[in-house]
Amino acid sequence: MIQSVRGTKDILPEDAGLWQFIEKKFSDVSHLYGYKEIRTPVFERTEVFSRSIGQGTDIVNKEMYTFTDKGGDSITLRPEMTAAMVRAVVQNSLLHNFPLIKLWYFGPFFRYERPQKGRLRQFHQYGAECLGSAYPEADAELIILADSLFKSIGISSYKLLLNTLGTEETRKNYVFELVRYLKSYKDQLSNDSRNRLESNPLRILDSKDESDSEILKNAPVILEFLDNESKEHFENVITLVKESGINFEISSYLVRGLDYYNHTVFEFQSNMLGAQDSFGGGGRYNNLIEQLGGPPTPAVGFALGIERLLMIIGQLNNFIDSNSNPHIYVVSPNHNNKKYAIAIAEKLRRRNLRVITDLNRRSLKSQMKDANKNNVKYVVIAGDDEIKEHTVTIKNMENSEQCNISFDGIDNYDFDL
Ligand code: HAM
Repeated sequence: MIQSVRGTKDILPEDAGLWQFIEKKFSDVSHLYGYKEIRTPVFERTEVFSRSIGQGTDIVNKEMYTFTDKGGDSITLRPEMTAAMVRAVVQNSLLHNFPLIKLWYFGPFFRYERPQKGRLRQFHQYGAECLGSAYPEADAELIILADSLFKSIGISSYKLLLNTLGTEETRKNYVFELVRYLKSYKDQLSNDSRNRLESNPLRILDSKDESDSEILKNAPVILEFLDNESKEHFENVITLVKESGINFEISSYLVRGLDYYNHTVFEFQSNMLGAQDSFGGGGRYNNLIEQLGGPPTPAVGFALGIERLLMIIGQLNNFIDSNSNPHIYVVSPNHNNKKYAIAIAEKLRRRNLRVITDLNRRSLKSQMKDANKNNVKYVVIAGDDEIKEHTVTIKNMENSEQCNISFDGIDNYDFDL
């Protein structure tokens, strides 16, 4: 037997209904807010990600599925969508006609991480991105959209963390001071954090190591480094989110794992997830579009991890998929005349009824058994008599009531489903 690749998961028929449910809800809610869907290839030229996510980040350093294709090009399976989406927007000049565009997406992403509960090598994200507004209203709208998405699938309790990284200048000044502070504790820092002092000092704020946390307690905080414009932007975001009735906490340690952020950053956490407690996050990336060759355009967005959302809703309710179960089984014991049964099934399907038929030339008895097993409400019987008389027999499986009608009568028969 060949096993699947570590860190990947099959979505089996019994789970597919739940995935379709989430995708449908998220698509409907996105459209309520004026976001339109974008789909891009699952692989891109490597520089799309290496030039945007940041050379010092875990994603670019350790986690990308990168390979050289047969033509010699360096290709990467997308580890996230923001950079790929920006590539597509710039390449297709979407900002040319619409200087403000709002996009959503849903699909698979790939990161070579150590698999554990809630952490996969192929996972799925829903995301929303708003390109073309520098105002706090855009940040707030996205957070409100996220809250509506959660509510649409029954999640009302979660933690929203908010922070700001200010402008690039703010960030640079802050990192300088942070590194100066942390260097004086270099020997007490964890190995990871010591390495990050050079490569990605902001990520030290994320450290779960106890000794690091102790040192961080007195570290400089970014909020003290903000210029007036950044402060005002952040205060406006806070006010708008608060006035929408969404609870949040300000966390000066929240930095996120990708380099393209400035100003607002946010993350959604749940205590139902264990160690990987963050099920979504995002922020502003005002320089990314220009960096990838587009016109200077402020932007903000977020992404949610679908597998993590599923873990949360799995604990909240017992989802029953009623959209894929067949309504009707056409029983056809005459194996020399299958075209009669096929014609009946097609008539019913044209009425939007979900219909299955016997494909294994089974006996009448085992077809009836199969119908029961499939939980259909009706069986339509096309036996020898029916074929001869050009009729069908309809049996209601719940009350065993039965009737015989003409073949054409199928078009108008009132099924009680
Ligand atoms: P991210 O925080 O790297 O942000 O990923 C967003 C979410 O994807 C995470 O909160 C998590 O739920 C899920 N996720 C990430 N890696 C894995 C994994 N290995 N296994 C399972 N789930 C995972 C981004 O990707 C940014 N592009 C978000 C964004 C959009 N920022 C602005 N716009």
